[in-house]
Amino acid sequence: MKNSRRKFLTSISMLAAASAFPVQSFGFGKSRKLKVVLVGTGIRGTSFWGKRLVDEYSDILEFVGLSDVNSGRLDYAKEYIGVTCPLFTNFDKMLKKTKPDLVIVTTVDATHHEFIIKGLEFGCDVLTEKPLTTDGDKAQRILDAERKSGKNLIVGFNYRWSPYNTKIKELLMDKTIGDITSVDFHWYLNTYHGASYFRRWHGLKDKGGSLWVHKATHHFDLLNWWLDSDPSEVFAYGNLEHYGSNGPFKGANCRTCEHKGNCEYYFDITKNQRLMDLYVANENHDGYIRDNCLFRDEIDIYDKMSAQIKYANDVTVNYSLTTYSPFEGWRIAFNGTKGRIEASLDIPYNINTNVDQAEMHAKEMEQNAVEEAMTENIIVHKLWSDFDTVTVPTEKGGHGGGDKRLHDKIFKTPEIEDPYARSAGIRDGIMSILIGIGARNSIETGNPIKIADLTDLVPQAKRIKSTK
Ligand SMILES: NC(=O)c1ccc[n+]([C@@H]2O[C@H](COP(=O)([O-])OP(=O)(O)OC[C@H]3O[C@@H](n4cnc5c(N)ncnc54)[C@H](O)[C@@H]3O)[C@@H](O)[C@H]2O)c1
Repeated sequence: MKNSRRKFLTSISMLAAASAFPVQSFGFGKSRKLKVVLVGTGIRGTSFWGKRLVDEYSDILEFVGLSDVNSGRLDYAKEYIGVTCPLFTNFDKMLKKTKPDLVIVTTVDATHHEFIIKGLEFGCDVLTEKPLTTDGDKAQRILDAERKSGKNLIVGFNYRWSPYNTKIKELLMDKTIGDITSVDFHWYLNTYHGASYFRRWHGLKDKGGSLWVHKATHHFDLLNWWLDSDPSEVFAYGNLEHYGSNGPFKGANCRTCEHKGNCEYYFDITKNQRLMDLYVANENHDGYIRDNCLFRDEIDIYDKMSAQIKYANDVTVNYSLTTYSPFEGWRIAFNGTKGRIEASLDIPYNINTNVDQAEMHAKEMEQNAVEEAMTENIIVHKLWSDFDTVTVPTEKGGHGGGDKRLHDKIFKTPEIEDPYARSAGIRDGIMSILIGIGARNSIETGNPIKIADLTDLVPQAKRIKSTK
């Protein structure tokens, strides 16, 4: 036990070191656990950063406070996570009262900056869910706070940690197809997962920054990491043509809707006790409706998105995101000076099986799913040769197995050097959102957007860690 605690005490420092942050020495001894507070006790906060931390790492950390604007959800969270710490609807009071070592931020995206900046200014290390934030001004304020504080900021990019994505990184690092010159990257959200964003706060730009930021931050982080370069310019198109006011009818929410019988998107939240307890039971506190109508007029994000991205190392990328595909999956192709790599996940006709798309979405969100042994392929096709098939064992639960590997790196094996450099810091968090923010600005202005115009970070042909 002592050993695992000692490891953890250095873990955040080591992650930070991987991000070229100054190594911190924590101001506490071996006699006590890391004091953690969490703000945002929604589904991600209570499960992945709440209950899972308590279940797996209680020997090295303890929750000393939970905070949320919804007092009902806070009460539920305390019980669900299994902690006895005090609850706060006021984040500032929580900081003053509990003096934590680490602040975990899992609130609505557009509010992350507030808690990140306050946490850093209070002298805490901060671990935030993606996306780091939702616009360039907030990103700059986070950068300024981080530079002043000398504290560490970690972004929870879990996708890098899935074995399939790591294998792609390995093939690229090994220069299997020479230097990369261009990429095609297309992501398909199905009518369960894709639709779910339009039911929730994610459907409003001022809450999630649009799916260009909320969702695509994952994809752009993968690209930046795979290509090992910073984006320099983006041009994009996008529109809202399927959800929102385009729907054939609308209702107040699914539970009470008179169109239940003829809406393909009808979602019966009453069948999911966890969602009933977390959201429905607490609607009276903040009016947030989890099974909102995805055809409501207030939705202002895009449901089809397409961008061209130029990297500082001259790689060009064609990217698209679809939100109402019959299947969930993605495909990517890297063109290199010595050949081409094609990879895809979950495309039903590639793996020769019909997947239940509703079940697939549920599994993706689960942390403790029992895994069937599965494999997926990566095609490596060198110029003037036959293609080779690289077979990779894959997992479906917890974001392709990325979730638990990210936790283990932070809390269990921080001392093991990672040849793939999967730990993400503030520069990674910012570079990934700037592509989405630039794409949004490009659609709104009709112009290509230079990444260097969005914050004071200068895009580098080869990625660096420093934000100075
Ligand atoms: N890495 C991943 O794969 C992944 C998966 C899911 C969610 N997330 C991220 O986790 C975060 C939370 O998402 P979620 O799905 O749990 O959403 P959610 O709606 O379930 O939870 C958000 C919580 O934040 C609270 N909140 C909102 N504004 C607040 C404020 N100003 N002060 C305090 N509390 C506030 C809400 O009351 C709610 O309890 C988001 O940033 C999301 O992008 C990441």
